[in-house]
Order: sequence, then C-alpha cells, then structure tokens
Amino acid sequence: MTRKFGAGIALGIIGTLLVAVAVWLTIAYTGAYNVAASDQHADAVRWTLDTTMHRSVERRSGDVELPETFTDELVADGAGHYAESCVYCHGAPGQEPTDWSRGMRPEPPHLTEAAAEWSAEEIYWIVENGIKMSGMPAFGAHHGPEEIAGLTAFVSQLPGLSPEDYRALTGSGAAASEGGAPTGEATGGAGAEPAAPAD
Ligand code: HEC
Repeated sequence: MTRKFGAGIALGIIGTLLVAVAVWLTIAYTGAYNVAASDQHADAVRWTLDTTMHRSVERRSGDVELPETFTDELVADGAGHYAESCVYCHGAPGQEPTDWSRGMRPEPPHLTEAAAEWSAEEIYWIVENGIKMSGMPAFGAHHGPEEIAGLTAFVSQLPGLSPEDYRALTGSGAAASEGGAPTGEATGGAGAEPAAPAD
C-alpha cells in the first residue's frame, strides 16, 4: 500500500520533470522566444535576469577587499579609464551614452543614477568579472587590480557628480595617466574652453 503510494509519487515527479524538459527543448528548438534586441524582454525573463544578477553579485562580492577611503589620485585615475572604456555604454554627468548602446538589451543603465544601488565591493566585482548574457564585459581579463580599484572609486562617486566636476576630472585624469590620453586634446593653455566633443 505505502510502497504503491511511494511509487506513485516517484512517477509523478519523473513525469513533471519530463514535461519541464519537453517545454525547455521546445522553446529552444522552435525559435519561439524572440531574441531580437529591438524587442523588450518579456517581464518574467527580465525579472529572472535582474534578480539572478543582483543575488549573484551580492553573493560573490563578499571577498573583494578595498581601501577604507579612496584617494583623489585613485578617483582621477579611474575617471580617465571611465572616459576611455565605459562612457559609451553608461554615459556620465552631462554626457549621454552613444546611440548604438541604446539598442542593447538589457540597455546599459546611466551609471550616474544606477551606481547608487551598488556598494563599492559590488562595483569592483562587476567591473572585474562582467555580467554574462548582458553585454557588460569582464575588464579583469585585461585591466589590473589598481585600474579596477580606480574605476570603482570613480564610479562610486558618480551619483552627485556635476558635469563640470566630470570634465575637470577626466581632463586631469587623462593628463596624469602614463601616456594614454584618449583624445588629442592636450593643449595645456590657460584659457582652454571646455569645447563640446565633436561626434
Ligand atoms: C558594451 C557596453 C558596456 C561597456 C563598454 C561597459 N558596460 Fe557596464 N554594463 C553594460 C550592460 C549591458 C549592463 C547591464 C546589465 C543588466 O542590467 O543586466 C552593465 C552593467 C554595469 C553595472 C551594474 C549597473 C546596474 O545597475 O546594472 C556597472 C557598475 C557597470 N556596468 C560598470 C561598468 C564600468 C565601470 C565600465 C567600464 C570599465 C563598463 N561598465 C563598461 C554594458 C557595458
């Protein structure tokens, strides 16, 4: 009697699993899910990706060790790297992200606002490791810990940074970094007007 009952439950579980596998394979093989980036993710998919991403970063960033306070040099260094590698997708105070990045799904958030949601350790982890299935690259593969710490220091300060501060920081950051000025804008003249970048 109980043995029969147990066998029934086992069959029920196996049956449910088979149905789940069938649904999964049907979605994958029939092309039912629209992968077009011109179309928004379905709400359930968006929720799953968001929640998975937040929980995963929270769980894994615990081992990141950062200095108690960030020096001005570190922030300026990070600002230079940010202007080189991140601003296209994430924008900056007074600077919109590029048009092509608005066509990405998920759309890279304006970090001037979104950075406030993350701790410095989490930002470090995200920049080092990137985020699968989102287009956020892993910078740890070709940037050293110091560069990533600089980026972290700068991104942590992005919320609340004014366009003037950003321009001042990226100007000095580019000049201070060893030979990597992103644009040929190195005219050290006294009355250099902050001309709008031509694009
Ligand atoms: C090619 C575009 C691209 C570039 C370049 C890029 N990112 Fe991202 N980044 C993304 C996308 C897309 C996400 C969003 C992921 C999501 O919401 O699922 C993201 C997410 C993030 C997040 C988490 C913010 C949030 O709330 O989702 C941080 C922090 C971040 N990026 C920092 C950086 C930094 C710092 C750089 C430069 C070193 C950088 N990114 C370069 C595309 C990019």
